[in-house]
Amino acid sequence: MKHALPVGVVVVAAGSGQRLGQGIPKARVLCGGRTLLERSLDAVLASGVAASIVVVLPEGDDVLSAVVSRAAGRAGNTTVVPVTGGATRTASVRAGLDALPPSAAVVLVHDAARALTPPEVFRRVAAAVAAGAPAVIPVLPVVDTVKVVDGDVVTATPDRGALRAVQTPQGFDAPALRLAHEGIHPADPSATDDAMLMEARGATVRVVDGDALSFKVTTPLDLVIAEAVLAREAAGPSVAG
Ligand code: C5P
Repeated sequence: MKHALPVGVVVVAAGSGQRLGQGIPKARVLCGGRTLLERSLDAVLASGVAASIVVVLPEGDDVLSAVVSRAAGRAGNTTVVPVTGGATRTASVRAGLDALPPSAAVVLVHDAARALTPPEVFRRVAAAVAAGAPAVIPVLPVVDTVKVVDGDVVTATPDRGALRAVQTPQGFDAPALRLAHEGIHPADPSATDDAMLMEARGATVRVVDGDALSFKVTTPLDLVIAEAVLAREAAGPSVAG
């Protein structure tokens, strides 16, 4: 079901994936026999929210270009186009925003590396933006105690109850996010998500429930966990949860 407001989705997949240590861009890494990018695009398409999808890729990556072409072939009325990303996540998001059709009133920005994100998270975020929030992020409670450190010395212990771990897709009023991106140089590596650019402009950022399955595949252990989740799904409901 399409949204009342046209939704564009920017999927950023231009990262190098160095922390996974496989020597190929992370989005190309196989998980349960399919690339992380393919799994992410299937989740976006299954959510049914997207009128258009822009996929941000490493320069000249024929393997990922082919993944995007195949997704476009099964996307029905949703347009799916590739663009080349930049050296920072911010530069890649900016490239994606530039390629979105101007008609997209709502934009969701999603990390391809969060390959197991359930489709309902996209719907939840898009619905909250459509309901009037200029910025919406999916979050989970923080289970660990978190310390602020200066070198090897602890300087503070924030109240864990007030902390949230932040995921994607993050949803925005599209013109507001475009303006927020104009406030930062694309080469600046300090913006680790898009919501912080909106916060810097004084916009209210609202939270909705994230999902444990939306974890970002970053390290070799994450890949083991993702493979285990998929294997359990493939084994069907008879396997104890
Ligand atoms: O590096 P990090 O784990 O924060 O990356 C999050 C997402 O941003 C990944 O899906 C990655 O492919 C993407 N990214 C990008 N361009 C970059 C860096 C990261 O598209 N230059």
